[in-house]
Amino acid sequence: MKNFAAIVLAAGKGTRMKSALPKVLHPVAGAPMIDYPISALSSLAPERVVVVVGYCRDEVQGALASRRVSFAVQASQRGTGHAVLCGLNPLAGFKGDVLILSGDVPLITGATLKAFLKFHRRRGAKRPVVSLITMMLANPSGYGRVVRNEDGAVVAVVEDKDCDVEQKKINEVNSGIYLVDADFLSAGIKKLGTKNAQGEYYLPDLISIAARSGHGVSALTHLDPQEVMGINNRVELATANRVMRMRTLNRLMLSGVSVVDPEATYIDSTVKIGMDTVIHPGVHITGKTFIGSRCSIEAGAMIHDSIIGEASTIKAYSVIESTKAGKAVVIGPFARLRPGARLSEGVRIGNFVEVKKSVMGKGSKANHLSYIGDAVIGSGVNIGAGTITCNYDGVSKHLTRIGDRAFIGSDTQLVAPVKVGKGAYVGSGTTVTRNVPPGALVITRADERVIEGWADKKMMKKSKG
Ligand code: UD1
Ligand code: CA
Repeated sequence: MKNFAAIVLAAGKGTRMKSALPKVLHPVAGAPMIDYPISALSSLAPERVVVVVGYCRDEVQGALASRRVSFAVQASQRGTGHAVLCGLNPLAGFKGDVLILSGDVPLITGATLKAFLKFHRRRGAKRPVVSLITMMLANPSGYGRVVRNEDGAVVAVVEDKDCDVEQKKINEVNSGIYLVDADFLSAGIKKLGTKNAQGEYYLPDLISIAARSGHGVSALTHLDPQEVMGINNRVELATANRVMRMRTLNRLMLSGVSVVDPEATYIDSTVKIGMDTVIHPGVHITGKTFIGSRCSIEAGAMIHDSIIGEASTIKAYSVIESTKAGKAVVIGPFARLRPGARLSEGVRIGNFVEVKKSVMGKGSKANHLSYIGDAVIGSGVNIGAGTITCNYDGVSKHLTRIGDRAFIGSDTQLVAPVKVGKGAYVGSGTTVTRNVPPGALVITRADERVIEGWADKKMMKKSKG
């Protein structure tokens, strides 16, 4: 959009978070907090977006590396007014409207910002030099209060710590989102002082500067205070997470996904799920995960950065990470799929089976108590209970290869590197250390002895002695 730029304030430490991590990098539904206002802004296509960084600036810049934004540095945090002064440097010569918002308002939407810009640029009324979004709060403490004169015009914003007893009672508060004419902003920002409770340059003082000089100030009151809430502590962070989660769940439900108990379901905004999939309570689906249609994701499953094909069932309490699974797989209950698991259509992984960096072909099964690591397994293979790929010799990892339709008996150890040919059989309890040709049987078993009456004899010895 022409004659429209934005400054996003993200230089502060966020002291009230009590954290080593800068506030704007705390995750909200799987993405750093700062990601959300930047996304909302991008829907308005500003000419320029300047992010003001300071505290842990390398980390904050790193988190925004893929975004089309430029950065301004505020070396020491001397207040929001000073932060904007720094943010104006890269905007030298810019004419038009500057939207200012904080990196700590993750719930803001593009729709609200669009409506705000339209409001600020509305025709007819005298064009304001500053507009701000306000909200009504039953408990306004912590926020700057919006002071209006007898005619209802906004004349000032007074910070919580600077309020007198009467001002404390004002329920209308400043959201910290402003649209300011660029020329007025560059002149006005230099007039800010630090005579206040925190000894900082307060950006909201721009309101009284505009009002006093007879310029127009206009205020748009947002009806959903949650959307413009600033996140200052971890209680508010939890609220933001809950709201964001609900938005994602609502979107998924409206697109045909069943969520049995939305209050107890944790799905990141980055997740995509197909129609008629059912998500049971206690499920966590995070990161870049795609789940096909007609799947069932049972209670307590955790799925991260994975692809699950359609018509699959993830049974209760399975933990799945960086895995690719085809159609109609059945996983769990209590299965663990670690990075690099690649399962073809119809694969079955049962309880207490761990799979790491392994490929399993169509219809292969490992139904009970197994460790499969660094293996390439063909199709139609049956892996018996208690099978272990011994992939590590203490120095390096080695590969196990199992051909199509091979049958691995229970309690087998496959000492890698080793290969079991197509259609071969491994007898129960075998330790396989050499390659098995296709169609062969391999078995290592000590002779079985049965000594009749052994227990009675033992008892007799004991009673004599
Ligand atoms: C601010 C407003 C307050 C408003 C509230 C809405 C001021 C002085 N007060 O208060 O009127 O009701 O937001 O949420 O502006 N920042 C910097 N550099 C600094 C200081 C802050 O970049 O020197 C950044 C922070 O990283 C943050 C944003 O500015 O993203 C807001 O700062 P914060 O300390 O959270 O302001 P509030 O006390 O919430
Ligand atoms: Ca804040």
